[in-house]
Amino acid sequence: MPSTGRRGFLKGSLSALGGGTLLAASSGKPVLAKSPPEIKIEDWNTYLGDAVVTNPYGVPSEHEAHVVRRNVEWLTASQESSVSFTPLHELDGFITPNGLCFERHHSGVAHIEPSAHRLMINGLVDNPLIFTMEDLKRFPRVNRFAFLECAANSGMEWRGAQLNGCQFTHGMVHCVQYTGVPLKYLLEEAGVKTNAKWLMPEGADSAGMNRSVPLEKALEDCIVAYKMNGEALRPEQGYPLRLVVPGWEGNMWVKWLRRIEVGDQPWHTREETSKYTDLMEDGSSRRFTWIMDAKSIVTNPSPQAPLLHKGHNMLSGLAWSGRGKIKRVDVTLDGGKNWRTAELSGPVLDKCLTRFYLPFQWQGDPMLIQSRAIDETGYIQPTKKELRQVRGLNSIYHNNGIQTWHVMKNGETENVEIS
Ligand code: MTE
Ligand code: CO
Repeated sequence: MPSTGRRGFLKGSLSALGGGTLLAASSGKPVLAKSPPEIKIEDWNTYLGDAVVTNPYGVPSEHEAHVVRRNVEWLTASQESSVSFTPLHELDGFITPNGLCFERHHSGVAHIEPSAHRLMINGLVDNPLIFTMEDLKRFPRVNRFAFLECAANSGMEWRGAQLNGCQFTHGMVHCVQYTGVPLKYLLEEAGVKTNAKWLMPEGADSAGMNRSVPLEKALEDCIVAYKMNGEALRPEQGYPLRLVVPGWEGNMWVKWLRRIEVGDQPWHTREETSKYTDLMEDGSSRRFTWIMDAKSIVTNPSPQAPLLHKGHNMLSGLAWSGRGKIKRVDVTLDGGKNWRTAELSGPVLDKCLTRFYLPFQWQGDPMLIQSRAIDETGYIQPTKKELRQVRGLNSIYHNNGIQTWHVMKNGETENVEIS
């Protein structure tokens, strides 16, 4: 299946059909017209449209109503302590729109009045401090893009292919631009004592969720963020304040951030502190596995986005690494016999989602599609087999194994595993 350049695409499809046209069908999917398309006067050509501020806060077209976060009801006992998934197969580029960012809450979404919100820094500091939101907005601020991936993303797939759709297998990830104060500045203001080594950020949700974060990481690049994609954080994402821990597992990105305690030891040993470990085959556990290793997923085609047309098609996907930038993404259409290098599109940023594309020809033969990410440290995304050889079958967290999609003759696509 040779790749086709843009010129080849036009020659091979549009002009071969005598000037056929790309039409937008009601599904929003492009359809190649076999005969010249009918052009008629539609309603929207004849009436005045909506006045300005009909929607004071804009919402997507009603024809995009299927592009939503979704959950898997049987996954958790309650929907307050659950997860919803980003519809990766409906998105393009590398930014996740705010309303589509997956959510993970341990005790539901806290609704916080910003003027009543406080951030306290206490523990091993010279001056314990309490900041209002107004105080924080007077500090020098930074803007940075970062992906957030829950350590449990793809966790349901540890023992085999389970969920049909990249939204469910890989949708516990999002990537937005954050605006906020480098945590370093706040810690400097409080004056961290020389024996300090650990922080315990804590949320204002009813779970009071907290985690241990090494001081070193906090000083390197953590941000106390109040904006995402230019506007205030959404309640689901921790309004009015959250911790941003670039490249590290989502659980450490404490939402509704109300307190940071500075200490000389991790809080991991305390029962009430959230901690993620990876249970190994021999009964021991890996801990302090904070960095999200390189991973990728083909978002189109995928089970929720089957192939509809023979001939020219575009494969699209996302790759990311908690260790830096994505260097290369390889794609196979035949279960690993042949690999081709995909095009990385748009900015390739540090610890961000990176979009990749690969044009391909499809004549209706079954395909086994995989993608493999390589990051700037030279780390290569492992196969699921390789991952299981090292980590066994007991884990939930940190499954970054290569995903396989089986495209069938009719274009339908399913989640499978090949050895
Ligand atoms: N912070 C608080 N206060 N409460 C929570 O339940 N969930 C954590 C983290 N921060 C959580 C939290 C987990 S496990 C993840 S993966 C991320 O938030 C999810 O962030 P998101 O909801 O913005 O996607
Ligand atoms: Co999580």
